[in-house]
Amino acid sequence: MARAAREQWSTRAGFVLAAVGSAVGLGNMWRFSYLTAENGGAAFVLLYVAMTLLVGLPVLLAELVVGRGARQSPIGALARYGGSRWRALGFLFVAAGFLILAYYSVIAGWTVRYALVGLLMGFDGDAGERFGQLATGPRALFWHLLFMVLTAGLVMGGVRRGIERASLVLMPLLFAIVVGLAVYAATLPGAEAGYRYYFQPSFEELLDVRVLRDAAGQAFFSLSLGMGAMLTYASYLSRDTHLPAESAVIAGADFAVAFVAGLVVFPMLFAFGLEGEVGESTVGALFITLPHAFAEMGGAGRVVGIFFFVSLVVGALTSAISLFEVVVSSLMDAADFERAHASLLLGTVVALLGVPAASDLDVLGAMDTLAGNVLLLVGGLGLALFVGWRMDDPVAEAAAGASGIRWFGLWRRLLRYAVPAVLGLVLWFAREDTLGALAALAGAGG
Ligand code: TRP
Repeated sequence: MARAAREQWSTRAGFVLAAVGSAVGLGNMWRFSYLTAENGGAAFVLLYVAMTLLVGLPVLLAELVVGRGARQSPIGALARYGGSRWRALGFLFVAAGFLILAYYSVIAGWTVRYALVGLLMGFDGDAGERFGQLATGPRALFWHLLFMVLTAGLVMGGVRRGIERASLVLMPLLFAIVVGLAVYAATLPGAEAGYRYYFQPSFEELLDVRVLRDAAGQAFFSLSLGMGAMLTYASYLSRDTHLPAESAVIAGADFAVAFVAGLVVFPMLFAFGLEGEVGESTVGALFITLPHAFAEMGGAGRVVGIFFFVSLVVGALTSAISLFEVVVSSLMDAADFERAHASLLLGTVVALLGVPAASDLDVLGAMDTLAGNVLLLVGGLGLALFVGWRMDDPVAEAAAGASGIRWFGLWRRLLRYAVPAVLGLVLWFAREDTLGALAALAGAGG
């Protein structure tokens, strides 16, 4: 069957920017701050960094190697290197993609809404109450649907036109604003308590399995790992790329944004005395703290706030696009769907899946725990086993490229032993908590 030549990134920088665009999003801002708040601060941050280095980076490289090598969407790529039984892992990826995008889009919807609130009436000091009003219900649903329409529209535009341009323009702006806000936060009286919370770990929490699992989950979520998003992006790459270097750039940029976001949220949280409000609804940590800060800052705060939320919307879009690209390209490769048809069909399915998350914060939280902290880890574990054990040395070496001599051995050993051991243990020891989240989801649904 004659197929159009596979689309490709027009430049190497185009790929890196799109991968950074995928990595940097609500995960760095909303999710990182809420999990840090929920898991007691510095201990979580420390474990998140450790997990990124030990588990995140090797898996990121694995996704890039398999994607570039196979030049196919995840299901096909796994079958190509591993035989058709490994398709099952690809299906798990796609399932995780559906689930994550469904509630991700709800949160992105909050972000759109805050941008408009800032624009039309300015931010008000009663941030906790406002969050409660718009986080769920018909309004949340409306903005979720709008965001899905936008995402599907951009993915229909194809790899180059839609994605590359969007990533190129607004990511640097987002980073600049967040750095500016961190500087502002440092000038606030009472900020020290926030820094202490962010930087001084307590040792009991370091040993808590749930904190450990959430940290591993956050490392994966933030780097867009464990469900084939990076794999899919790398499938549009040409051969002459040095993947370890790309991985380091992607991970470095992603970490920088999350770290600075923490330097904004926690000093502000304590300086404005918002611990109570955030404690009741940790999921809203970012959305309660920042609007309050923008309100405190007066006229300038309104302008900064609008720019902040607008660029966060763009960050969310470039991430959502990568999630959606996985499910769309899977359908295109598996069933010979055209891009436009696949986007329309799957966009509708995701929009519907998001309805329960837009109706109930507990459902949203449980979906995030299960997909983000469990399914992604299972996916990453599967991929590590795949590249570590299923792919033979010569095959893996060829896929990784000859330039990989120096890092190749270490990388393979990490994928064979360290990554499966860490992920396996974390998933096993946190199993009760995971079952609890499942039960909560089932209870809320039925
Ligand atoms: N990493 C993105 C963020 O931080 C979200 C995201 C995009 C993602 N693609 C993904 C998460 C794939 C998990 C898997 O906002």
